[in-house]
Amino acid sequence: MSIRPVLDPFALVPELDSRHLINGELVAPISGKCFDVFNPATGKVIGKAAEGNARDVDLAVMAAKIAQKDWAERPARERGKLVAECGRVLTAHVEELGRLIALESGKALRTESRVEASVLADMFVFFGGLASELKGETVPFNPNMMTLTTREPVGVVGAIIPWNVPLLLMAIKVAPALVAGNSVVVKSAEDTPFTVLRVCQIMQQVLPKGVLNILSGFGPGCGGPLVEHKDVKKVSFTGSVETGRIVYRAAAEKLIPVTLELGGKSPMIVMADADLDKAINGAVGGMRFTRQGQSCTASSRILVHESLHDAFVTRLKDRVNALKMGDPLDEETDIGTIINRKQRDKICGYIDIGEQQGATKHELSALPANDSLKDRLFVRPVIFTDVKPDHRIAREEIFGPVACIFKFKTFEEALELANDSDFGLAATIWTTDLKTALQATKRLDAGFVQVNQNLVVQPNLSYGGVKLSGLGKEASLESMLEHYTHKKTIILNME
Ligand code: NAI
Ligand code: MG
Repeated sequence: MSIRPVLDPFALVPELDSRHLINGELVAPISGKCFDVFNPATGKVIGKAAEGNARDVDLAVMAAKIAQKDWAERPARERGKLVAECGRVLTAHVEELGRLIALESGKALRTESRVEASVLADMFVFFGGLASELKGETVPFNPNMMTLTTREPVGVVGAIIPWNVPLLLMAIKVAPALVAGNSVVVKSAEDTPFTVLRVCQIMQQVLPKGVLNILSGFGPGCGGPLVEHKDVKKVSFTGSVETGRIVYRAAAEKLIPVTLELGGKSPMIVMADADLDKAINGAVGGMRFTRQGQSCTASSRILVHESLHDAFVTRLKDRVNALKMGDPLDEETDIGTIINRKQRDKICGYIDIGEQQGATKHELSALPANDSLKDRLFVRPVIFTDVKPDHRIAREEIFGPVACIFKFKTFEEALELANDSDFGLAATIWTTDLKTALQATKRLDAGFVQVNQNLVVQPNLSYGGVKLSGLGKEASLESMLEHYTHKKTIILNME
């Protein structure tokens, strides 16, 4: 029986209410406990999510462990075809998933949520096509011994995802893990449990039972036991540095590999010879103003040559002022809401700190006029000028619509400022000079460097940072081979 898209997200939530998905079935949590999930745009409860605990984790991991044996026995291309088929089936649900994620995350449907839903489907199609690349090597070891390597699945993978781009971040973990012959247990983020649960429900039409399971719940109560479970052989995590460290320590106890995609404070360098129109577009897109800046790759430190600085600030302010804040489900809306009160308070706290430390605040756009929305979790985008490198807003990840603008004189000074960060996820440079561009790509300390553009995660491009931004790569063939398989060495004596 095929699942039909449900375009009204308010009608869809009750179908997913208070359930995990384990071994192909929507099931209630063993404890019977559930927690409220809110529409951040109105503050109203939209439904309840199952509050997973160690017993639910155990059930899901057991199902995944049993299913993984048969799954790994299938020819690689057969697994790949099924994963690609998931992508095709999900394509028919893009509108539905876009609306549901807009409802639970507060991200605007037109500018963000619908886009995320379509990239999700594309990731499954992309990874599905890579199954034949799970190749080993022959090794010239000894002429009398045939020596070769194979790529083996690791077993049950635990995937812990955040709320900012849950569909995409789930896809870049689940798709390569499945294609490589693993089974997966996902722990969704507490604010956004429904859309990822829906995705897994849709995928059950194609995948064998137990290969993909999903739990909702809180970090310590559900994420913790998943990382610690003895049968989870690999963990892939995206979220905060603080939680990343907890996950890494727990994984170290078991000596299992982890992939960690943590925060960022990514620089954008605008040289004196930059195309200003392109750079302004790049700053609006790169800073993810339409996602309220809730992005690990946000270009939150914008370094502008002193000759362009004032013109840049004026034009950027005009552009951000023109963005419309409002109901995330309204097609007119460019900018939706912050995910929850805690994040809103964190962002507002940083805005206060920025002013207290002496930076100049420019508050842009306007809160929604609609009375039912205006007291909610909307935060007006802020640009700070006169920022000093040691200001807290210049060093710490704010994860909100707050950009710091710095002035520089020389290329060396710009590079030094750009690399003066604990993070190293992404960086961009805007210039029309080839030599400057090439030197910058070599010298910028980041996992993802772009010249005159600011793309987000793309299928086939390795994505992941250095320094506190994390460990390991995602979204590429390399990520599948290195992070979801282990290499086995085999020697056959021919004598
Ligand atoms: P978080 O890192 O605490 O949460 C991310 C995921 O980890 C969620 O699914 C959560 O339930 C889980 N988790 C939390 N504690 C855990 C534990 N002890 N064991 C296992 N899993 C656990 O992030 P949070 O609290 O939502 O946001 C705090 C800050 O983290 C943000 O302000 C932002 O700076 C950063 N962040 C970075 C993201 C990125 O894309 N790199 C995404 C989300 C947040
Ligand atoms: Mg947390």
